[in-house]
Amino acid sequence: MTTSEQTAERLLGALIGAAELFTVELGRELGLYRALRGTRRTASDLAKTAGIDARYAREWLEQQAAAGFLTAAGDDPDGRLFALTEEVAAVLLDETGPAFLGTAGQFALGVGLAYPAVTEAFRTGSGVSYADYGRHIRHGIAAFNRPMFTHQLAGEWLPGLPEIDQRLRATPGARVLDLGCGVGHSSVALALAYPAITVRGVDLDEASVAEARRNAAEAGVADRVSFTLGDAATPADAGVDLVTIFEALHDMADPVGVLAAARAALAEGGSVFIGDERVSDTFTAPAGEIERLQYAFSVLHCLPATRAESSDVANGTVLRASTLLDWARAAGFTRPEVLDITNDFWRFYRLRG
Ligand SMILES: C[S@@+](CC[C@H](N)C(=O)[O-])C[C@H]1O[C@@H](n2cnc3c(N)ncnc32)[C@H](O)[C@@H]1O
Repeated sequence: MTTSEQTAERLLGALIGAAELFTVELGRELGLYRALRGTRRTASDLAKTAGIDARYAREWLEQQAAAGFLTAAGDDPDGRLFALTEEVAAVLLDETGPAFLGTAGQFALGVGLAYPAVTEAFRTGSGVSYADYGRHIRHGIAAFNRPMFTHQLAGEWLPGLPEIDQRLRATPGARVLDLGCGVGHSSVALALAYPAITVRGVDLDEASVAEARRNAAEAGVADRVSFTLGDAATPADAGVDLVTIFEALHDMADPVGVLAAARAALAEGGSVFIGDERVSDTFTAPAGEIERLQYAFSVLHCLPATRAESSDVANGTVLRASTLLDWARAAGFTRPEVLDITNDFWRFYRLRG
């Protein structure tokens, strides 16, 4: 196959994938997958149950079966029965489950909706604020990361750092500062796992902070988890046992300032624990799949969002380990380290000293 044939094939595959992603989002947003779980339905049955138009229901069901997301049985289009297997349902519907990726379409939609503003930013050198990306990006990011917070944060990552884990378990009123907390799933997961701690989340995005407060209340931890709208570079805390920053340092306009403020907030013996993108050590082209995803999101979201804060650093999504360690040293940490925690998407760091 020639290179031009390969390129054309690749673009066609991407177009099929992109179009199918939006049909998945349609099924998720309209509650169609939920209506199909654990049962078999005809198009008219699904239309009635989900409250949608019958002709659209039939087209969507046939498309989903053609794409391989649903199974279909029967030759009569009106009587054909469609079903969702439990394996597929776990990926599409179980928001806290380890297999969940059901909001991939929402994520893609979020960058698509911001496309005109991003194009303009490319022309002018301006930015597109995180808030202007709207709910699809906010919820897409939150849903993508939530299973890791629910299952791995206090189930694997922190128990692998016994000093931190023990400190959070054994110190009554131990304090955690969660910078760039988004809608607060990490703050809530920490509070649920460590009953003696208090957590303060900080985020620059008003809608995220409002949702974080609701999420903490729904999880029953609002008495120990609070959220502040503000810049992570200026937290006014002291005596903090652990500062966490998950997939947010690369988005911050003043990363050295944020790390310096985190350092100033730490109690004696406290640590900063960071999860940020797992990218290669140096620029590599062509890159692996995850780095390709991160570069694409950097172009379409992270770089414009950071430039809306300030253009001074504006690193973008691709935060290499050497850059982060340099920032940590510039912020005054004498013992920044890369941690040996296995994860496809993130690399982990502990900053001390
Ligand atoms: C990719 S999201 C990650 C959110 C959350 N930590 C998670 O893992 O789901 C990055 C977050 O950083 C926040 N952010 C960006 N710059 C910030 C700053 N200077 N101070 C505080 N938060 C900031 C954004 O508003 C956004 O919620």
